[in-house]
Amino acid sequence: MELTSYYRKTKPTEKELNKFKITYDKKSQNRPAWIKIDGLEGKVKFIEIHLGKKGRNGRRKQFYRTYLPLGLFLPIDYTSEEMSKYYDKFAETYDKEIKETGYNTGAAKFLIGKIKKYVNKNPAILDLGAGTGIVNEVYALASFKNMTLVDFSKGMLDDAKKKPALRGCKFIRADIRKLNLKGKYDLITSHFSLGNYRYINEEDVDKILKKFKKNLTQKGIIAIIGHFNLELFRKHFKELKSGIYTLNKSKKLFADYFIGRK
Ligand SMILES: C[S@@+](CC[C@H](N)C(=O)[O-])C[C@H]1O[C@@H](n2cnc3c(N)ncnc32)[C@H](O)[C@@H]1O
Repeated sequence: MELTSYYRKTKPTEKELNKFKITYDKKSQNRPAWIKIDGLEGKVKFIEIHLGKKGRNGRRKQFYRTYLPLGLFLPIDYTSEEMSKYYDKFAETYDKEIKETGYNTGAAKFLIGKIKKYVNKNPAILDLGAGTGIVNEVYALASFKNMTLVDFSKGMLDDAKKKPALRGCKFIRADIRKLNLKGKYDLITSHFSLGNYRYINEEDVDKILKKFKKNLTQKGIIAIIGHFNLELFRKHFKELKSGIYTLNKSKKLFADYFIGRK
């Protein structure tokens, strides 16, 4: 794949925004910017737009990537299949990159610290968009062993299945937008997946929350961390706690978290 033409790590100029139909939320100050790329949204630190070779229709295919994951590209108008394939490939280096930054594992430790008082000692946990299970290892270390991991990428989930700490967990390969489960869970969680509108748009998140709410036990809670519109979560759950978690202060990387009850 040859990619040319455009690359940047800084805030795009007005002219560029117009050119690529990107809107940049000027209200976000020291927080990661809210960026819309042709209808895709995500809070990203910087963006890179790459234009591929001209296709038969004379138009260049556009690719974009955000600061993570490094070195991989997706077409702007990616399909669900392209996204899961992208993660199949990303699985090869995912844990290495995450271990280097410590972002996801650090965020999981933080979230576990916050949820402990709301759950029993051995809660049944459903993790939506669990990936390679690297954050589930953190849960297992904190004595949470009863976990069901859902992800639509075979590559990511295969990595999770190999982790000794996750022996005994359940693994479901499915698109969470289409998945319907019968079981009840004490904790439904999601780390950097559910609320990331690069993967799942707001309308989908709304439907997902409504759907999985039925899978919560009477006193069950939802606890998620990532980048999202808190109002959607408040619409479906009674808020117990929410706020901002600092992933990296000097790089000004932050994540939102939300803990709620039925
Ligand atoms: C940024 S990774 C986060 C993985 C893990 N939670 C972590 O923090 O390391 C996002 C994950 O969500 C998964 N994902 C994205 N959209 C999905 C969907 N619609 N259904 C199932 N999994 C999805 C991807 O395959 C990927 O593994």
